[in-house]
Amino acid sequence: MILADEAATLALGADLASIVRPGDVITLSGDLGAGKTTLARGLLAALGLAGEAPSPTFAIIQTYAPPETRLPVAHVDLYRIEDPGEAEELGLDDLCADHLLLVEWPERLGPELWQDALRLRIETVEEGGRRLTADVPPSWEARWSPR
Ligand SMILES: Nc1ncnc2c1ncn2[C@@H]1O[C@H](COP(=O)(O)OP(=O)(O)OP(=O)(O)O)[C@@H](O)[C@H]1O
Ligand SMILES: [Mg+2]
Repeated sequence: MILADEAATLALGADLASIVRPGDVITLSGDLGAGKTTLARGLLAALGLAGEAPSPTFAIIQTYAPPETRLPVAHVDLYRIEDPGEAEELGLDDLCADHLLLVEWPERLGPELWQDALRLRIETVEEGGRRLTADVPPSWEARWSPR
């Protein structure tokens, strides 16, 4: 699907808010500036977060808990992670037990993690908007398909 402008990316994030549950993993792939954090912001806002979610680029992990958001969320940006061993120390698998995990730059962990993740990819298109493609595992099929 095409996301014509920033508002469309935020709206897609907001749509996801109605179907996510603790234990879900959504990975967000795309180049620098593609719109990964924007999508996460739309989702977090629709989960009740007041104010704009910061980019976790420097913190690496930013967590949210009720009542700030409707469910516990860990927003993660692995851009600065240089090898998968470092990522292990972050304890993402533990967080995953009771948080919604939103992961920017999942490629930093290698290819094999989170078979059940909803994998979203955002690419820029010439007209200035973005194209979203999704890799939807069976566990998400009944819940979500990109329009
Ligand atoms: N659909 C869209 N069309 C045009 N611009 C968009 C769209 N979605 C988001 N943007 C813009 O893209 C810019 C970069 O967005 P964002 O910070 O979300 O990128 P990112 O993928 O998280 O980058 P990084 O890898 O650096 O974390 C923002 O200025 C945002 O407004
Ligand atoms: Mg980002």
